[in-house]
Amino acid sequence: MPARLVVLASGSGTNLQAIIDACANGSLDGEVVAVISDRPDAFALNRARTHAIASVEVPLVKGQERARYDQRLCDVVLALQPDWVVMAGFMRILGNVFLSSFPGQVINLHPALPGELPGTRAIERAFAEYLTGCRTEAGVMVHRVPDQGVDDGPVLATATIQFMAGDTVESFATRMHEAERRLLVETLIALTKDTAR
Ligand code: GAR
Repeated sequence: MPARLVVLASGSGTNLQAIIDACANGSLDGEVVAVISDRPDAFALNRARTHAIASVEVPLVKGQERARYDQRLCDVVLALQPDWVVMAGFMRILGNVFLSSFPGQVINLHPALPGELPGTRAIERAFAEYLTGCRTEAGVMVHRVPDQGVDDGPVLATATIQFMAGDTVESFATRMHEAERRLLVETLIALTKDTAR
């Protein structure tokens, strides 16, 4: 049975696309059963529709407590019975209400090495540090999400990316994004082989 993958995404979904492609070409024994976004305008949702994958909006409601949002998201994902919940550019912190329902099943992709540059725009911040001379390399990681730590948790895989002479933030970002897509798919291949759920 292919692993049931639920992908959470807030943005353009290039990493989601890499997962969809890997499932389609057979390298990943998985099926994206739904794509969920907090942002109704996320292009990731369009990618899901294009591939006839369920796309679900779980938007923020102004003034709603975080625990309530977590519960709404949790109810949607529980109904999908995922083997893995993949945060692929999902720009919200998942709370304990959600995480306690999927113990050991949630993973996150982040464009930085463990312990570095949590939060948004990590690629731009890494490049700015390189320009000021206080950074010599960067990287990407996939980690488990056991608690509410931001871009933090037991590391599953990393890839180190070197800066190159003449790099611009765009050329650096292109290499980082390529590495992210590769690492995320490789990690999912390893996880789905390990657990054989
Ligand atoms: C990716 O670079 C991902 O690592 C990052 O958002 C981007 C999503 O791109 N996530 C974080 O920064 C998490 N803190 P995508 O929508 O094209 O997959």
